[in-house]
Amino acid sequence: MNQHARVEDKPIPFIDVAAQRRRLGSAIDDAVARVLAHCQFIQGPEVRALEAELAAFCGARHVIGCSSGTDALLLVLMAWEIGPGDAVICPSFTYHATGEAVALLGATPILADVQAESFNLDPASCERAIATAKRLGLKPRAIIPVDLFGLPADHDAINALAAAHGLLVLDDAAQAFGATYHGRKLGALTTATATSFFPAKPLGCYGDGGAVFTDDDALAARVRSLRVHGEGADKYEAVRIGLTGRLDTIQAAVLLEKLKIFPDEIAARDRAAGRYAAGLGDVALVPRAGNQSTSVWAQYTIRLKPGRRDGLAAALKAQGIPTAVYYTKPLHLQPAYRGFPVAEGGVPASDQLAGEVISLPMHAYLEPAVQDRIIGAVRRALAG
Ligand SMILES: Cc1ncc(COP(=O)(O)O)c(C=O)c1O
Repeated sequence: MNQHARVEDKPIPFIDVAAQRRRLGSAIDDAVARVLAHCQFIQGPEVRALEAELAAFCGARHVIGCSSGTDALLLVLMAWEIGPGDAVICPSFTYHATGEAVALLGATPILADVQAESFNLDPASCERAIATAKRLGLKPRAIIPVDLFGLPADHDAINALAAAHGLLVLDDAAQAFGATYHGRKLGALTTATATSFFPAKPLGCYGDGGAVFTDDDALAARVRSLRVHGEGADKYEAVRIGLTGRLDTIQAAVLLEKLKIFPDEIAARDRAAGRYAAGLGDVALVPRAGNQSTSVWAQYTIRLKPGRRDGLAAALKAQGIPTAVYYTKPLHLQPAYRGFPVAEGGVPASDQLAGEVISLPMHAYLEPAVQDRIIGAVRRALAG
């Protein structure tokens, strides 16, 4: 193999956290050093500063930093006192943390279908899931739409459905913070929103972290109490049963630096998505943000004809190009979740997507030349 061939075959990262680290360099080092100097590792000033910056960024009245995206979901459901006998509608085609937050509280996730084109909750299936819950003698309490792969769900339709049935809405924006729907950023679109700062997320920290967003003063106060063991006005008074659900100060310091470049990174991701769509739109079904939405492209997920995926993944792997499949098993097929009810009418689009989807490398530092290499490899593999 000559030198040129080796450069061409250099492995490509799926998500390049290190490239962003190089860009931010000493800004992150200095931010962490400031925390190491003041030693307020829990609920330090950076946590409050980050919450204020995130509120300004997305337009939510309250932002509550917390320990993970899962805990963000859990804290809201706990604040709403959701528990046994309650039903919460979730899409089946999602990461299982969505249903986990519901099941942990003893409530029943009802698994609804998605729309194959957007990967997101289908309002018609959601409506059928409400009927399923009632038929099973459960009390429908809330809907959790997921903004999968970075693209907002159909929030207007879901909010309208929730209002018609007297349900709460908790947006699982773990993959999509920074995206917009009808010109508004996720976080301020519905009763409550949860996001994750897991390192691979579009806005990720250097460990676990998450946040709750809401305009509801009473909900915000309950979530703030629940994230610190259900504390009352006096921190040694327990007014409810809570969690150790706080965001670490060091993670908040990291996020404050990352938030400064986040808009620029979102634009770079969008350019990369545009290059993929132009290069692959005639050989695969490529994702499109609707006219009214923008995506943060947490994943760039294409759809293939059945039977083509394994061959493509193997061909790309042989050329140093990683891929991932989110999700081969929707919730209704997961060992821990298959006992939960599925919405009447079933979840055919979730089943279909599970056999079709494959995600390609996507991050803000994906250079056009590298992307050309990926596009060329995908085209060759699918032509073969
Ligand atoms: C849709 C969705 N919901 C919830 C979560 C949970 O976030 P975390 O890993 O921060 O707990 C994730 C994380 O991958 C996710 O993708």
